[in-house]
Amino acid sequence: MKNQLVQPFSTLALRRKPGNKQVAAAVSPTTEMIPLVYLDGLCKEFIEGGQARSVLKEVELSIYAGEFVVLLGHSGSGKSTLLNLISGIERPTSGTISIRDVSLTQLSERNRTLFRRDHIGFVFQFFNLIPTLTVLENVTLPQELAGHDARSTNAAALKLLEQVALADRCNTFPDKLSGGEQQRVAIARALVHDPMLVLADEPTGNLDEETGNRVLELLLDLTRRAGKTLIMATHNPEIAPLADRVLRVHEGQIINV
Ligand SMILES: Nc1ncnc2c1ncn2[C@@H]1O[C@H](COP(=O)(O)OP(=O)(O)O)[C@@H](O)[C@H]1O
Ligand SMILES: [Mg+2]
Repeated sequence: MKNQLVQPFSTLALRRKPGNKQVAAAVSPTTEMIPLVYLDGLCKEFIEGGQARSVLKEVELSIYAGEFVVLLGHSGSGKSTLLNLISGIERPTSGTISIRDVSLTQLSERNRTLFRRDHIGFVFQFFNLIPTLTVLENVTLPQELAGHDARSTNAAALKLLEQVALADRCNTFPDKLSGGEQQRVAIARALVHDPMLVLADEPTGNLDEETGNRVLELLLDLTRRAGKTLIMATHNPEIAPLADRVLRVHEGQIINV
């Protein structure tokens, strides 16, 4: 790794919680592990008033299967930019992003979209539900667009809506739901295609503390139970102790906290 701010893998292993069996079992100094997400020399600049503003500078980062990684950083530090790059929503100025053996940076925009649809779940701060679709339709839409069989899609959506305790609200429209309920629908939508990687961008940032904590517990429970990898940007300091690894985005770099 070029970036000395990122600790070597063997050091990180000492900080992981024993509860996370999937990661703990995989973490052995003698095991050569392949990261699920690998960022290499990642740079992102935005052009503003004809001038380039550098948001991420030569970021090197490996995230392993089953990890729950929390991303801290003040507003404007680049957390959303990093998540958008990993999901393929945005393209880096330079550097590479690999997810498993797929080099995201080499894919066309269409193929990045297809990859995201099949393998990544995204939970947004403002839920991003479609107001003209019911709860059930919101959850099934991504799968329907992917051409999946309606019956199995419905079954998967109903199962998840049960898990987020909203099975009785299937035919309700989002504007009739509270913020916490809307975010629970969004979590069901993010997980319905059983993605290997879940990205959450301040998922509790628009909720009161108590609702936010319950939503977070649910998201953590569902991703942990399924052994998924979760990367979450947040301002909530209570989340950090629950994570396998806490990273801070600062001045374009990723620092281990
Ligand atoms: N599309 C864009 N065009 C120009 N600047 C952007 C764009 N998206 C983000 N930025 C800038 O990049 C920086 C990081 O933004 P962001 O990733 O949203 O930060 P965070 O999520 O940590 O609050 C900010 O200065 C923001 O203004
Ligand atoms: Mg943000």
